[in-house]
Amino acid sequence: MKRLTEEEALKLLLQNIKDKKELNLPENKWILHSIYVGEAAKRIAKAIKINSDKAAAFGYIHDIGRRINHSNHPIEGYNYLNNLGYIEEARYCLTHSFIDNDINKTAGGGPKDTESYDFINNFLQNNNHNIYDNIIQLCDLFCLETGFTTIENRLLDIYSRKGVFDNSYDHYLAVMDLKKRIEKGLQYSLYTLFPEIKEINNIEDDSRKLKELLQKDIKIYILK
Ligand SMILES: [Fe+2]
Repeated sequence: MKRLTEEEALKLLLQNIKDKKELNLPENKWILHSIYVGEAAKRIAKAIKINSDKAAAFGYIHDIGRRINHSNHPIEGYNYLNNLGYIEEARYCLTHSFIDNDINKTAGGGPKDTESYDFINNFLQNNNHNIYDNIIQLCDLFCLETGFTTIENRLLDIYSRKGVFDNSYDHYLAVMDLKKRIEKGLQYSLYTLFPEIKEINNIEDDSRKLKELLQKDIKIYILK
């Protein structure tokens, strides 16, 4: 099967960028975010001793559909990579926003139109989550266009921007459970792998704000 190496995936991500300066344009924020997702996925994969080349490649291309259409980027990315013959890589465009490949465990309320909902749901139901799905799902939630942050900080940003929905608390719980499971594999805190995260110092405050936003009792969980 045709597959993208880490290098090829990065090249595909940067395909339309002629000058590094273009990466700072607002419309290219998603590219910087994707670079960090690839880097984060690579670090985690190395630490838990799975294929880090694959993890990095999947991270780089997970949002590639944004080049075509932001609102429908999961399906656009999936079709784009499938058409190029990158069948394995295409799945991460669809699975990255749904924790454990569960359509209800997502931020922003999920796919808006019935056609997209049915297409994604059908795919998710026929493709159980694997470790790479889980790693990209988690990395998507602590990578900004400016670098790595805490999941708490990123969720605060997402829920504040996209709104709190009926499923937001379940999404939050699923994210924290996924973090715990990855940390079980690591045997240490996720944040140990990302010492550059400054927001770690605000984690209690961010958790409090999250609690206020979700109006639920949230316990802070950091593995030492
Ligand atoms: Fe993303």
